[in-house]
Amino acid sequence: MSDSIILGIESSCDDTSAAIIKGNSILSNIAANQAIHKEYGGVVPELASRAHQQNIIPVVEKSLTKANIQQNAIAAIGFTRGPGLLGSLLVGTSFAKSLAMSLDVPLIEVNHLQAHILAHFIEDANPMPPKFPFLCLTVSGGHTMIVLVKDYFDMEIIGKTIDDAAGEAFDKIGKIFDLDYPAGPIIDRLAKEGNPDAFKFNKPKLDNYDYSFSGIKTSVLYFTQKEVKKDPDFIKNNINDLCASVQKSIIEILMNKLEKATNDLNIKEVAIAGGVSANSALRKAMQDNQEKFGWNIYIPKFEYTTDNAAMIAMVAQLKFERGEFTDLRTTATAKYDL
Ligand code: KG4
Ligand code: ZN
Repeated sequence: MSDSIILGIESSCDDTSAAIIKGNSILSNIAANQAIHKEYGGVVPELASRAHQQNIIPVVEKSLTKANIQQNAIAAIGFTRGPGLLGSLLVGTSFAKSLAMSLDVPLIEVNHLQAHILAHFIEDANPMPPKFPFLCLTVSGGHTMIVLVKDYFDMEIIGKTIDDAAGEAFDKIGKIFDLDYPAGPIIDRLAKEGNPDAFKFNKPKLDNYDYSFSGIKTSVLYFTQKEVKKDPDFIKNNINDLCASVQKSIIEILMNKLEKATNDLNIKEVAIAGGVSANSALRKAMQDNQEKFGWNIYIPKFEYTTDNAAMIAMVAQLKFERGEFTDLRTTATAKYDL
């Protein structure tokens, strides 16, 4: 791998992030998280774009300082072109284009979903990178899919959610429980003190490798509404058991399809990626299957799971080596297939 120094920029949702990579080693990975959305119980696109505008220059400057490099050492600039919120993407895209022009270096567009998967190739993401072909369960706030990764840039989605993403299910159910946004990490924490078998919720019955999470959300909503009528403090008094039970159901849904795919395709290289891969029950389920089915599992380091620019810089480095540069007339795109 070339040991060029590349700046990566990520602004697809509510994290403004910049990272410096040298070869596949991360020299800095800085993120400014936007606390403002907590007040609204979800990401408000207009506010996200404005916060990106405020954060982008300080975040990029910090990434350079932390990596201890000068602007003129940058060989190329990688940025998230999509998918994501258009207003948010526009901030990172415009900034990357302007900086590439002023430094006179190549611009490299990155698909955010590919980046979540290729984050596995960052030097310190795993003790060893996955071997092709591998299956990658990609689970975030916006996406849930099983991807067959045949090569760095040869990926096939073999199953995906037909409605909500897994992270979205965690967040929406958290809202029912009156938890802050994003609720995924809070449910994970509260579940540690709860009984995962306390409550049972509906599971989807889909053939193939597709997912559905709207059913479990509705099932939790109706169940809690019914219980709250009898006891107004039901949620508060049972929050740990509720979180543990919800988490168990979501992780079982995710793992059942992943197990089916590994069996059908006879693949034992299995990775997870995206924000929900930070979930402790999912990590535990992967470890259990390593022993049970002889999987070689790949769980990236925590800071490379949620949205981050390190993964963007990693993909940019791979494209830089391949001479895949982007025209300065490029535009951001809200929808962007793998
Ligand atoms: O990948 P990501 O940072 O952003 C998107 O591209 O969507 O994922 C964010 C999602 C949120 O829905 C958040 O609740 C979820 O990941 N998440 C978790 C955990 N940490 C983050 N869900 C469950 N358990 C966690 N520990
Ligand atoms: Zn993401």
